[in-house]
Amino acid sequence: MRSNLTRRRFLSTTCASAAAAGLSGLDARADRLTAPVDDKLAALGGTPVRSEPFPSWPVIGEREEQDLIGTLRGKRWNRIGGSHVEKFEKVWAERTGAQHCLATSSGTSALVCSMNALEIGPGDEVIAPVYTFVATVNPVLLQHALPVFVDTDRETFQIDAGKIERAITRRTRAIIPVHLGGAAANLDAILPIAKKHKLFVIEDACQSHLAEWRGRKVGTYGDLGCFSFQASKHLNSGEGGAVISNNSELIEICKSFHNQGRGEMNAGMAYVRNGDNRRLTEFQGALLLAQLTRLEDQARAREQNAEYLTKLLREIPGIAPAKMYEGCTRNAYHLYMLRYDAQAFSGLSRERFLKALRAEGVPCSSGYTPLNKEPFMKNTLGSRAFRYIYSPKVLAELEERNRCPENDRLCQEAIWFTQNMLLGSKTDMDQIAEAVRKIQKQASLLARA
Ligand SMILES: Cc1ncc(COP(=O)(O)O)c(C=O)c1O
Repeated sequence: MRSNLTRRRFLSTTCASAAAAGLSGLDARADRLTAPVDDKLAALGGTPVRSEPFPSWPVIGEREEQDLIGTLRGKRWNRIGGSHVEKFEKVWAERTGAQHCLATSSGTSALVCSMNALEIGPGDEVIAPVYTFVATVNPVLLQHALPVFVDTDRETFQIDAGKIERAITRRTRAIIPVHLGGAAANLDAILPIAKKHKLFVIEDACQSHLAEWRGRKVGTYGDLGCFSFQASKHLNSGEGGAVISNNSELIEICKSFHNQGRGEMNAGMAYVRNGDNRRLTEFQGALLLAQLTRLEDQARAREQNAEYLTKLLREIPGIAPAKMYEGCTRNAYHLYMLRYDAQAFSGLSRERFLKALRAEGVPCSSGYTPLNKEPFMKNTLGSRAFRYIYSPKVLAELEERNRCPENDRLCQEAIWFTQNMLLGSKTDMDQIAEAVRKIQKQASLLARA
């Protein structure tokens, strides 16, 4: 039976949720008409379910323009002597509920500063999820420590906290829970393990601005919490990042490290430790302050749309949207993630399904590849420094310990939609589900084509 949506030849849509969220300039597509819908798959020459693009990212307004030009003309481009970065740090600490915040040049920089503040180094092991972006573990490797991967909970796409304890050895120094895709890792399970084994916790909250665990912002539970403001992120300055903490000593070390080891921000040529330049510029500080004004409204729009989309997609056999742990009281929805079961689509491979979905006007991707199997791991662990520090036995054992079969399976099943798609209208969500249903109905035809 054809659904109401398919039966209608033309669909009119308003951008109700985007407008309600005050997303100026985001999606002024009220009363637009979408492409005509017919039954024939777009991949087989039919008309796509939708032809309008989803809301573009980033969203900008006059304030960004004015503040960037103001910064340019003010000629204080470096944070030392400027005011935007410092102001942003105060505001971001307030918004997250942390006592301290240090802005950094990227999320990776935030993690590198954290590693240095905790003196993680050669001989140490750091536990991390395997389903994450490479930047979670590159800072571990930069310290010449060993990343120990823990398998994924396929239902939630998060680290399987039930498998963390068996990954701990006497060399383990820290755990990096990643709040992947904007949902929270299972902190109720992770924090007691860290406490029991006296391990540091560095939260990788790079994808989870304003996400919450039991009503408190993620990033505030660990010793340090790291955020990214890279271009795809909900708070965006092209590149950028921040470390938050309630531990003033740790933040002071991060601050010193990110500023070439100076004891004070303005210390001139006096250095107290080894450091690096991981500073954020005043241009980025100005952009972040402007972008912050939309963050909450956009978060609400994403939540509303994602919840509605989940209701629709859950009804489709073979489509399993990522679940959240009960303690995750707010999901930032940086990624909308789901699992695809080809069996429910007449054996149509995920890759062909993705292609067909894109043809219907719904951008999508297959997400991460297994990080433990990427060549960078073997190449880095086989490099001179690592061979010098670790015995061949330790390195061989690590390869064995880092096997993650559930994650291998997840990487074959995952499908992602990007966060900007959740900033549109309810009709946009209807059309995503409609496109999936349309493909399912004709999956056997497509599989044979
Ligand atoms: C989970 C995760 N960790 C760390 C990072 C690193 O952030 P950046 O790209 O700002 O260095 C990212 C960003 O893409 C990320 O998604």
